[in-house]
Amino acid sequence: MVESPHHKKPTKDRGFYVRMRLLNNNSRHVRSSPAIEKSFCYRYFKWVLWISLSFYFLSSFLITHKPTPSSLSSLSKSTTVLPRSKASRALFESLNSSSSSIHHHQGIFEGFNLKVFIYELPSKYNTDWLQDQRCSNHLFASEVAIHKALLNSKVRTFDPSEADFFFVPVYVSCNFSTVNGFPAIGHARNLISSAVEIISSQFPFWNRSLGSDHIFVASHDYGACFHAMEDRAKADGIPEFMKRSIILQTFGVKYDHPCQNVENIVIPPYISPESVGNTLDKSPITGRRDIFAFFRGKMEVHPKNVSGRFYSKRVRTVIYKKYGNDRRFYLKRHRFAGYQSEIVRSTFCLCPLGWAPWSPRLVESVALGCVPVIIADGIRLPFPDAVPWAEISLTVAEKDVAKLGPILEHVASTNLSAIQRNLWDPSVRRALLFNDPMVEGDATWQVLEALSDRLDRSHRKPSVSSE
Ligand SMILES: *[C@@H]1O[C@H](CO)[C@@H](O)[C@H](O)[C@H]1NC(C)=O
Ligand SMILES: *[C@@H]1O[C@H](CO)[C@@H](O)[C@H](O)[C@H]1NC(C)=O
Ligand SMILES: *[C@@H]1O[C@H](CO)[C@@H](O)[C@H](O)[C@H]1NC(C)=O
Ligand SMILES: *[C@@H]1O[C@H](CO)[C@@H](O)[C@H](O)[C@H]1NC(C)=O
Ligand SMILES: *[C@@H]1O[C@H](CO)[C@@H](O)[C@H](O)[C@H]1NC(C)=O
Repeated sequence: MVESPHHKKPTKDRGFYVRMRLLNNNSRHVRSSPAIEKSFCYRYFKWVLWISLSFYFLSSFLITHKPTPSSLSSLSKSTTVLPRSKASRALFESLNSSSSSIHHHQGIFEGFNLKVFIYELPSKYNTDWLQDQRCSNHLFASEVAIHKALLNSKVRTFDPSEADFFFVPVYVSCNFSTVNGFPAIGHARNLISSAVEIISSQFPFWNRSLGSDHIFVASHDYGACFHAMEDRAKADGIPEFMKRSIILQTFGVKYDHPCQNVENIVIPPYISPESVGNTLDKSPITGRRDIFAFFRGKMEVHPKNVSGRFYSKRVRTVIYKKYGNDRRFYLKRHRFAGYQSEIVRSTFCLCPLGWAPWSPRLVESVALGCVPVIIADGIRLPFPDAVPWAEISLTVAEKDVAKLGPILEHVASTNLSAIQRNLWDPSVRRALLFNDPMVEGDATWQVLEALSDRLDRSHRKPSVSSE
């Protein structure tokens, strides 16, 4: 397990691969962009290989009508079980290239067998907010990033009647407080509910499914509960009209919680891939790491009791008191613009809970190759199928935080290099970053993978159900 960063079952992989090839037969109409052109030759080579291989698979499939279980299990499953045959749709599309070229103008590797319709809402729901530069770059910006990536994606359809999912692009995290600069989300419920009023009155699709094939992003502290304080978030709950939909959220825990009582996919917080790229250009991921354990952020010496709760459940306070004067620990309480350059110099990066269990540090430390030390009991981490969390990070129970020193020393003297080897696999950091346009294996790609899986499941079951 330690040596395998790719956690896909081989059978599934191959089925997916085959489907991908079928679709790729018609992706000649590729818009040239600098990023794409760069690797065009390489990819062209791959296509030739794919096309010939897919021809091989196809012909054996058509001739024998008896695909071998190992190589075509997923394909044969879909032809026999799914009411709407994925394989036949893929075949159909590869034959009717005139129609698919209209929609599939980009995304060479995208072989997803799903179609997403993106509502075009008045600009006050989304793009108006982008006037503030922070809107597309702060830690909640996945609501913007996913929208942008989908707009340019091959899964996008302009024909809602053929859509499997409907994406509702409302940016709710960009109303930055003039007082402290933090995003105020008090307006989120009303903004989303008025967007739903528009789409449900102008299109038949919301009413048809009661919103169950509709997708929202809720990227702040407690997902679709839209409040930064847990007790208020829990009391307010998820708005009634969103409860049947699919929520892409940064919040996730392994126990029962009203803010995830909805079909949901845990997504990573947004960290700009450009900033990560710039940092890694200066200091390579395998470079010298002279800081043993790093944390920069809010650490209250005397946390206040805010309606019965203490910030970080006092975990950060314990860390600060116990290790504040320890030479091995580099603990800082104030913001610093060169934060990423510190992470890339560090061996272990502490990721303790704040108010919510998740934090942007999870992504920053993985992206910059610093072993994340996750201190947030019961946290549910993003994309477990793509990111082998147990092999790239350490988890320390909140109650054991006072023993951090010996725990980290033990790992440093035993399996640190194994963990780093897993962590430094490029596919791991790719899975946690949102790119525009989408890149194979990146965070938006993982969302589509998860939606794809759900589609498979929902076709086999009578209705969409939450996990
Ligand atoms: C191919 O797509 C076009 C445009 O959507 C459609 O009119 C036509 O019927 C399709 N061809 C076949 C063979 O179904
Ligand atoms: C932004 O938040 C403030 C409160 O911080 C609120 O008064 C205002 O109405 C919000 N703006 C919008 C457009 O919802
Ligand atoms: C959907 O249902 C709502 C509430 O029943 C109704 O007001 C609206 O007109 C319906 N939408 C369509 C497109 O029929
Ligand atoms: C925190 O404050 C609440 C009242 O808001 C009180 O009931 C509770 O006992 C306090 N907890 C601690 C540990 O002081
Ligand atoms: C490394 O060692 C720690 C502590 O012994 C263990 O919990 C963890 O699973 C190990 N990780 C790997 C990738 O071997």
